[in-house]
Amino acid sequence: MSFSSTWLTLREPYDRRARNPAVLEAVTAWAAERPSIAIVDLACGLGSTLRAMTERLPKRQSWRLVDNDLSLLARAGALEKPPDRSVTPVPVDLARDLEAALDGPVELVTTSALLDLVSHEWLDRLVTEAAARRLPVYAALSYDGLATLDPVDVLDAAVIDAVNQHQRGDKGFGPALGPEAAATAPTRFEALGYTVTQGASDWVFGPKDAEIQTEVLTGWAVAAREIGECSIGDIIGWLARRRDHIAAGRSSMRVGHVDFFARPIAMR
Ligand SMILES: C[S@@+](CC[C@H](N)C(=O)[O-])C[C@H]1O[C@@H](n2cnc3c(N)ncnc32)[C@H](O)[C@@H]1O
Repeated sequence: MSFSSTWLTLREPYDRRARNPAVLEAVTAWAAERPSIAIVDLACGLGSTLRAMTERLPKRQSWRLVDNDLSLLARAGALEKPPDRSVTPVPVDLARDLEAALDGPVELVTTSALLDLVSHEWLDRLVTEAAARRLPVYAALSYDGLATLDPVDVLDAAVIDAVNQHQRGDKGFGPALGPEAAATAPTRFEALGYTVTQGASDWVFGPKDAEIQTEVLTGWAVAAREIGECSIGDIIGWLARRRDHIAAGRSSMRVGHVDFFARPIAMR
């Protein structure tokens, strides 16, 4: 599955605003006493997690940015590198070679907007491999399946239900966890003795956030059409009404996400 740089650029400020402050603070507090830190960011996209975290971590940072999209990776790897920060882009298909991505000098694993794309089996691999290496994991922005739109439309619930079904389709890692990821992933870490700090990181779009609302709602209409439970006519009518609300400056939406920071109880 590919993600356009336009979409990742559009969502980044909303993601940044949504990241849960208590979870960010837990990562910052954990990292605070280290003179330096080595991080691997899984499915880095354009490097939004690096930008969100860099000021919160010890000054000397070495980042390995991992993705299988070479074009995104090239842009992420070209980020400005202050003297104390190294950034190494690493092309890896995480579905196949997760273990290789975690090898080498790593003290913190980060990721964002990834866990809802992966399967139960892949999540288990991540949890097992992180635990075997005693690595803490910061995972941001997993979609939790809860979305609300204002003003309400009669077809909203059917479209959101279709989106949630669509989220469970295979995104290259096997049948995806989709909305289940937000609740499942922290539990898996806790089961292996991790301490987990978690909290909501919902997208909140107000009437002025027209472009991202249009983009998200258009994507939902496409997903609903692919699922096939609503008629095409109904979906087109729904999207037209939603776009009218956006154009009239009266549309708001909330899309639920969860962040967590999981750390092994006895850290190395
Ligand atoms: C929703 S984007 C999130 C990007 C970035 N973490 C962010 O929050 O902006 C998902 C990312 O997963 C990457 N991805 C998807 N499948 C992958 C795979 N099999 N191996 C490595 N990266 C993958 C995509 O290229 C994309 O950059």
